[in-house]
Amino acid sequence: MTVILGLESSCDDSAVALVTSDRRVLAQAVVGQNSAHQPYGGVVPEIAARAHVEILPGLIAKVLDDAKMSIREVDAVAATAGPGLIGGVMVALLAGKGLALAAGKPLIAVNHLEGHALSPRLVDPDLHFPYLLLLVSGGHCQLLEVRGVGDYRRLATTIDDAAGEAFDKAAKLLGLPYPGGPAIEQLARHGDGTAVPLPRPLVGSAEPHFSFAGLKSSVQRAVASGSYRAEDIAASLQQAIVDCLVDRTRLALDKTDAPTLVVAGGVAANQAIRGALAELASANGRAFSVPPAWLCTDNGAMIAWAGMERFTAGTSDALDVPARARWPLDESAEKVRGAGVKA
Ligand code: KG4
Ligand code: ZN
Repeated sequence: MTVILGLESSCDDSAVALVTSDRRVLAQAVVGQNSAHQPYGGVVPEIAARAHVEILPGLIAKVLDDAKMSIREVDAVAATAGPGLIGGVMVALLAGKGLALAAGKPLIAVNHLEGHALSPRLVDPDLHFPYLLLLVSGGHCQLLEVRGVGDYRRLATTIDDAAGEAFDKAAKLLGLPYPGGPAIEQLARHGDGTAVPLPRPLVGSAEPHFSFAGLKSSVQRAVASGSYRAEDIAASLQQAIVDCLVDRTRLALDKTDAPTLVVAGGVAANQAIRGALAELASANGRAFSVPPAWLCTDNGAMIAWAGMERFTAGTSDALDVPARARWPLDESAEKVRGAGVKA
C-alpha cells in the first residue's frame, strides 16, 4: 500500500490530505478564507497567498497527527504546481519541496485541473478511461476527453467567464456572500426558475464552447429593474446555467465514444446541475459519475489522488519544477477567441 500527502493552495482554500493507494482518505483538512475575501466579493490574490503561508503548515501538522503518521512513513509528497493564483500556488509547492527534501521522498507536482479531473476515480473504482469530463469550477469551464493519466483532449472551453464566476458575480449583485454558488443554490430552492427571462449564451451553436459573461449583465438588469424577487432571480440564473451546461455537454457527447459522463469541480457540488447531467447521460445511453460535494470543491484529497495516479504510473518531479499560473491539460488545444484570460 502506498500513502501520499497532498497539498493545495492555488486559490482561496488551504487543503491537506493523506490518501492511500486503496482509495482511503486517512485524514484531511480544508480551511477556506471566505470571510477574508467577503468584503471584495471575490478572491484577492495577495490576501490569499499570505493566508496560505499562515494556515498551510498547521494543516500539514494536523493531518499527519490525525493519521498518527510521520512524514517519514509517507511514500511521496504531491503538491499543486498550478494553474492558479501564482502567489498561492508557490506556498503549497514550496512546502511540498521542503518536506520532500527533508524526508527524502519523491515530489509530485500536480496540475490542479488534473486533481479535479481524476478525483472521481478516488471514490469510484469502476470509473475507467476514457470518460467525458465536464470540468466546472470558479476558474474553468471545459469539456475534456480523459483518455488516461496526463492524456487529455479538450473538446470545449469558455470564451469568457467560467460557470462558477457567473454564480459568484450574480451573488454579489444580489448581496449574497462569497462564494456565490452555494448561496444561489440555497436561495433558488424558494424561487421560480422561469420567472426571469435570461439568455442561454451559445446554446445551439456548432462547437460545444461556453459563454457566461452575458448572464451577469442580464442579472444586473433584472436586479436594477426592481421587478423580481431575489429567489426568482437566483432560480432563473441557476436554470440558465443548467440549460447551457446540458446543451453544450450533449453536443460533446456526440464527439466521443467514451462510455461515461463525469462532472467535477466546485460547481459540480450543485444538486440541480448534478441531476440534469445525470438525466442527460442516461438519455444518451452513458453511465454517469460525480464525486461527493466535498471532493468537488477544492480539497487536498484530489491532489493526493492525482499524485497517486502519477506515482503509480512511475512519474515524479525534480526539485526545480516550476510553479505555473497557466497550465492547460491539453497543451495542443487551440486558443479560443476570448478565452485564456483566466488562470
Ligand atoms: O473548484 P473550486 O472549489 O475552485 C476552483 O478551482 O475554482 O470551485 C469554486 C467555485 C466557485 O465559483 C463557487 O461559487 C462554485 O465553485 N460552487 C458552486 C457550488 N459550490 C461551489 N456553484 C454552484 N453550486 C454550488 N453548490
Ligand atoms: Zn479547483
